[in-house]
Amino acid sequence: MGYRFPLVRILRCVFSDGFIYHSVHDSSVMPDKHQLDLESLLACPDCGSDMVKVRDEMKCAGCKNVFEIRDGIPILFPADFDNSHLREEETLAEMMKIPEISAKERFYLGQWRQSKKEFWSVVAQNIGPAPKIMVNIGCGRDDSFRQFQDLGHFIVNFDIVYEMLDSLKLEYGARYCVAGDVKSLPFRKGTCDYLICIDLIHHESERLQQLLKRFRELLKPSGALFLEDANAWGMFQFPKSVLMPRSVHRSLRSFYHNSFKHSEQRPADYEFPTNPFKVRRILEQVGFSKIVFFDNHAYPNCHERAYKFYEFFGSSERIAKFHNYHYMLMARPGE
Ligand SMILES: C[S@@+](CC[C@H](N)C(=O)[O-])C[C@H]1O[C@@H](n2cnc3c(N)ncnc32)[C@H](O)[C@@H]1O
Ligand SMILES: [Zn+2]
Repeated sequence: MGYRFPLVRILRCVFSDGFIYHSVHDSSVMPDKHQLDLESLLACPDCGSDMVKVRDEMKCAGCKNVFEIRDGIPILFPADFDNSHLREEETLAEMMKIPEISAKERFYLGQWRQSKKEFWSVVAQNIGPAPKIMVNIGCGRDDSFRQFQDLGHFIVNFDIVYEMLDSLKLEYGARYCVAGDVKSLPFRKGTCDYLICIDLIHHESERLQQLLKRFRELLKPSGALFLEDANAWGMFQFPKSVLMPRSVHRSLRSFYHNSFKHSEQRPADYEFPTNPFKVRRILEQVGFSKIVFFDNHAYPNCHERAYKFYEFFGSSERIAKFHNYHYMLMARPGE
């Protein structure tokens, strides 16, 4: 993806504080203690071997595949990557840019923001002192990394859509960004202190076991996963997402968005809210223990009157943990 304005590119190179690669062959470039040697975290998305920076590309030390680094962002998709999935996610990313302005939507948006705040404050309260290695998987346009980067944590923004990473870098000064696919996470095993994953796993709801197993592998024994996802058991969702067969739900949803709502913000066909009880079971199966669910007070995607109803029942801990629009949890690896 080239730049239409070479000046922008030049200025970006001069002023960007994007990560400095430290090739194993270049001992003159030593990381200072505030700079993550991103290369030492990365693994080949195809074979899992270590990666080495060679000029301005990343090369796999095992299968020798070569990967582009675009304006400081390694592009680490596996060879069998499904491009149609990327195009769908790019379309969704474009939609996420469209400002929402009606009064009703303002309420929704406020709840989304509040919900995100609640999640990140759980992360902030449950992590150790800097510097820790954190990866935000499916980060989208979320600029919450800043508070952790400012504290001296090494937080890597990871997403399938390059353009969102590029804007995090340009607009918010994200130091560490990597593009790739959650199904082939290009990080070395046992290197991450904390993984964060908000609203992504329902995009891969048929592959939860594989995804969560890989999350477990990436974590250090002392690490933790912070996970939030759209909740199949949400108070206003479960009649559709639990009681209705999935195929019927999908057809009705697509009919609603295409024919009735003419919505700019529609979910992809493969998205489906996940079940927190099933996710907890899978987490245990793949080697997590100490799985803690947190209360959620904001309820995105419901109108104000419905929110009052949630607020009333949300004083019950069980409702606030398991029947919000989202569920949020922290899981630590087992012994
Ligand atoms: C609903 S958005 C959530 C974004 C962000 N976590 C937040 O809370 O604002 C889902 C994000 O997951 C990313 N995503 C979807 N499929 C992915 C995949 N296979 N690999 C990596 N990222 C993916 C999308 O590009 C998008 O940024
Ligand atoms: Zn390889």
